[in-house]
Amino acid sequence: MAKLNGKTALITGSTDGVGRMVAERLGADGWRILVHGRDRGRGEQVVAAIKKSGGAAEFLQADLSSLAEVRRLADAVQKATKRLDLLINNAGIGSGGPQGTRQMSADGHELRFAVNYLSGFLLTHLLMPLLKSSAPARIVNVASLGQQAIDFDDVMLQHDYNGMRAYRQSKLAQILFTIGLAPELKGSGVTVNALHPATFMDTAMVRQFGRPISTVKEGADAILKLAVAPEMEGRSGLYFNGQNEAQANAQAYDAQARQDLAALSFELAGLSTQKAAAAPGQF
Ligand SMILES: NC(=O)c1ccc[n+]([C@@H]2O[C@H](COP(=O)([O-])OP(=O)(O)OC[C@H]3O[C@@H](n4cnc5c(N)ncnc54)[C@H](OP(=O)(O)O)[C@@H]3O)[C@@H](O)[C@H]2O)c1
Repeated sequence: MAKLNGKTALITGSTDGVGRMVAERLGADGWRILVHGRDRGRGEQVVAAIKKSGGAAEFLQADLSSLAEVRRLADAVQKATKRLDLLINNAGIGSGGPQGTRQMSADGHELRFAVNYLSGFLLTHLLMPLLKSSAPARIVNVASLGQQAIDFDDVMLQHDYNGMRAYRQSKLAQILFTIGLAPELKGSGVTVNALHPATFMDTAMVRQFGRPISTVKEGADAILKLAVAPEMEGRSGLYFNGQNEAQANAQAYDAQARQDLAALSFELAGLSTQKAAAAPGQF
């Protein structure tokens, strides 16, 4: 049985798939885990498994397809804990398969952009003061090798919708966010990195429309490297393919694209850009 190590992590989408394995492994190492998802039944199962292995855990329910729920989640986190050493933005939905049609979030945004990217953008900003006061702290954005450049004339994919494109642009958006945020966090003791965990892991997302070709453990190992490995201390603004540092889609290195996405995201998420520009340390 692990002894509690005094550290707390929030892992979004930890009721299933790779998020669940990461939650259980950190829990078994003595972390306190804030387990998150929509499904309370599965959430409570993860909490029970973590407690059984000696960790501490509680379940926080929120549907990330609603920005109001993201704000509620951030409030619940701040009520539940005085410190946050690790935030893993992992929750996500897949492409919806070849027949997938365009869906919208509660706020009227294209659903994959909203759930896979914008919710994590808002959650990260809302939890930033807590992360900074807990420094050294880490943020890990679970993106994907599947990446497609964002068309800033049609971010919400109102024309020629394609589920794969929707998934891929949302995953690239996470990487643009990661690379843009890192310099703002310089000197704060908070780092941020993104990764493709593994290709077609054996999770519900993959099984729904295809055949798994790698294990959940492989993806969990890659996420845990960014989350806790000593060699990642102080390293920030990077993209990893599995355990290896890699190049993302070229748009991730386009400063103008990152600025355009940040400006749009602040607006969509209802965060004040003036505040961010005046006091970047607050965001
Ligand atoms: N599987 C792969 O091969 C692969 C490859 C590259 C990247 N990834 C990325 O890895 C991450 C995890 O994927 P996975 O394969 O482990 O998926 P998964 O098994 O389908 O699990 C997804 C998790 O996200 C949560 N979630 C989904 N929609 C949500 C919403 N609207 N609000 C709140 N939580 C929500 C689910 O919780 P509830 O059901 O309880 O809501 C679940 O815990 C995703 O970001 C995915 O894009 C996966």
